[in-house]
Amino acid sequence: MDRFKNILVTGGAGFIGSNFLNHMIIKYSDVNFINLDLLTYAGNLDYLNVVKDYPNYFFIEGDISDSKLVTSIFKKYSVDGVINFAAESHVDNSIGDPSDFIKTNINGTFNLLKVAYDSWMISPFKHKSGFLHSRFHQVSTDEVYGSIEQGSFNENSAYNPSSPYSSSKSSADLIVKSFNKTYGLNTTISLSSNNFGPNQNREKFIPVVLNSILNNVPVPVYGDGKNIRDWIFVDDNCKIIELIFKKGLSGESYNIGGGNEISNLDLIDLIFNSIITCSKNITDYQINFIDDRFGHDRRYSVNNSKIISDLGWSNDFSNFHKSLDFYVKNYINSHF
Ligand SMILES: NC(=O)c1ccc[n+]([C@@H]2O[C@H](COP(=O)([O-])OP(=O)(O)OC[C@H]3O[C@@H](n4cnc5c(N)ncnc54)[C@H](O)[C@@H]3O)[C@@H](O)[C@H]2O)c1
Repeated sequence: MDRFKNILVTGGAGFIGSNFLNHMIIKYSDVNFINLDLLTYAGNLDYLNVVKDYPNYFFIEGDISDSKLVTSIFKKYSVDGVINFAAESHVDNSIGDPSDFIKTNINGTFNLLKVAYDSWMISPFKHKSGFLHSRFHQVSTDEVYGSIEQGSFNENSAYNPSSPYSSSKSSADLIVKSFNKTYGLNTTISLSSNNFGPNQNREKFIPVVLNSILNNVPVPVYGDGKNIRDWIFVDDNCKIIELIFKKGLSGESYNIGGGNEISNLDLIDLIFNSIITCSKNITDYQINFIDDRFGHDRRYSVNNSKIISDLGWSNDFSNFHKSLDFYVKNYINSHF
């Protein structure tokens, strides 16, 4: 990790954050990783069983919006980097009640930024000694750009979010950008497409499909099921976030698309085909079409060329079909 010594990773007990920590803690034994997580319904410390006893791993249960707590963590651990995964992340929940999305995704991010600024800088564009390299990385989503019928969004595309979730993530990104422009805080933002892989909460689409088919329950599908999402294996997203954190330019945003666009109906078919190669009891599946989600975006698509041209990402993504198949089989082995 070159220059970083003590990195605060928020939301590290969630899906992507835990995959990230499992990768980083082992790879960078000379860097301390401090995981601040509120352990909401989406957080689970079991996801970190492999690394929990490593000497460079520390866990703190708490809220990123808690100014006193975050300030004390920065002081105690001399935090010189932040990677902010912590969020309320489920679109459906944001439609039911956006309150926690505003609190965590917007106010929480603002609080982290403010404490980072106070800890690392004397005044705008003037760093405290020892913190010139310090960086704040915001983990964002392709959903901030909204829906696109054809083509793909690049990093200069306007934000046009639809749901309270994507609006709260958009708001957070704008505040991150303002701390960079106004105060000179070193920031980067990554905007990834839909992740899949181990430790994903059972309320998210792929686990819902798996549990429905394996329990012989109709798979709930919004609208006509033809909404298109781009999928990325979580390991790939984590490696690119690592690359951005190390090599990205301050003030820049980087799209992370998986290059695997597929409709929800076709994805269900793929998952089913993977299931039947190892689960003999399953011979069929059914779909329960339900009323479309309010504000449901039709298609997401982001252009990846910046991480390739500017950061040297080798376009070396996991094979989508193989990694999905691998994930499905592991899921069946560990849950059924
Ligand atoms: N999952 C995806 O497909 C995807 C795609 C693009 C971007 N993202 C973004 O990546 C990040 C991680 O997503 P995920 O799928 O791992 O989410 P997740 O819901 O699985 O995990 C979120 C984690 O944050 C913690 N948390 C929630 N509120 C908190 C608070 N106030 N203080 C401290 N911790 C808190 C939870 O306990 C949980 O461990 C989010 O910012 C999300 O917007 C996710």
